[in-house]
Amino acid sequence: MTGRRDGPLMRNSGHSLCGSRLAMAVTIGVFLGCVFAFFYPRGFFAADSPIRGRRIAKSDLQVGSSQCESSERINMLKSEFVAESEKNSELKKQVRELTEKLQLAEQRKDQAQKQVLVLGEQHKAGPFGTVKGLRTNPTVVPDESVNPRLAKILEKVAVKRELIVALANSKVKDMLEVWFASIKRVGIPNYLVVALDEDIASYCKSNDVPVYKRDPDEGIDSVARTGGNHAVSGLKFRILREFLQLGYSIILSDVDIVYLQNPFNHLYRDSDVESMTDGHNNMTAYGYNDVFDEPAMGWARYAHTMRIWVYNSGFFYIRPTIPSIELLDRVANRLSREPNSWDQAVFNEELFFPSHPGYDGLHAARRTMDFYLFMNSKVLFKTVRKDAKLRKLRPVIVHVNYHPDKLPRMKAVVEFYVNGNQHALERFPDGSDW
Ligand SMILES: *[C@@H]1O[C@H](CO)[C@@H](O)[C@H](O)[C@H]1NC(C)=O
Repeated sequence: MTGRRDGPLMRNSGHSLCGSRLAMAVTIGVFLGCVFAFFYPRGFFAADSPIRGRRIAKSDLQVGSSQCESSERINMLKSEFVAESEKNSELKKQVRELTEKLQLAEQRKDQAQKQVLVLGEQHKAGPFGTVKGLRTNPTVVPDESVNPRLAKILEKVAVKRELIVALANSKVKDMLEVWFASIKRVGIPNYLVVALDEDIASYCKSNDVPVYKRDPDEGIDSVARTGGNHAVSGLKFRILREFLQLGYSIILSDVDIVYLQNPFNHLYRDSDVESMTDGHNNMTAYGYNDVFDEPAMGWARYAHTMRIWVYNSGFFYIRPTIPSIELLDRVANRLSREPNSWDQAVFNEELFFPSHPGYDGLHAARRTMDFYLFMNSKVLFKTVRKDAKLRKLRPVIVHVNYHPDKLPRMKAVVEFYVNGNQHALERFPDGSDW
């Protein structure tokens, strides 16, 4: 025990010793307290005393109130608190409502930003054989202000924001009749005739054909009435632009076409432009390597060239995307500047020529339609009608694009495919006789 005398606070010290030390410590404490009280009567923290003083004074008041007063005060505080929290929840509700409104307002903007994001997003390349480039571009945000009247019509006519559109004036009335009769027969509800004159507009109305006649005071319509063939071709691309701006995917259709199935059941919808081809077999329709021979070059006599038969600008499916609208603008612009150009050639040049020095090409995704399902009249009259197997195949459409005697050939197609007349196609030559 003697060995543990090292401190007055050690628990193991002897009781008597502990008692006397404790008494001494208390005495010293009291003495020091008196000394400090004498020299610092307002305490050590005099500097911030006014603040402390005020606080103390307030609480003193409360403490000093009677029991009754304090409970009244508590009740008052309670009801104040309830009122405050009610106000608070009302405010919260208003904030929530405002936030919701703000979110709604931001949605359209957000959609637009997402389009940019989709294109701008960065990815690591996946493993070998698993990567796939973007070909399905995002659609534009529909803009009804472009043509509210047309927007209303399309709301009624379109199915899943898709429809067939054909431009027609009185000159093609007979073909138009075969055209819409075939569409009605198949039961396609989503189609629309853009009437370029009053006669066609009333003809459609009397035949229960959905029709849209533009306002006569709209600038480009003077082209429709007075313009030549090429001017009307340019008009086609300008009018089509409005449909895309309104957010619709369109099958642009000439009227020298017979429908045998619903084309919307046979689309891939993965490209900006999905078009029927003027090609007549796998090579010409889908592309091939055409080797050009120049013997004078000796060892390098063979030059490889990429070939594809043109897309048919009289029947294509076009999605409402920026590249699609750019295509229409480029074609319309060139047709107006080069009055002797052929719209189909311009359409293909814009679609296929790559960027090169001094020229920015269009970067649109393209898909060639199956040339047996979306059949041109060369395929039908040169190949299909002579082949027992191919004769049994039912196309989606037949486009009489290769022959000038369009109306009789259209009627023959109906005879063959709809009425089952096996001889209906026989009287026509493969090509035209000029
Ligand atoms: C054409 O291509 C299809 C598939 O792409 C193939 O099934 C068919 O055999 C080809 N025809 C010829 C004549 O090569």
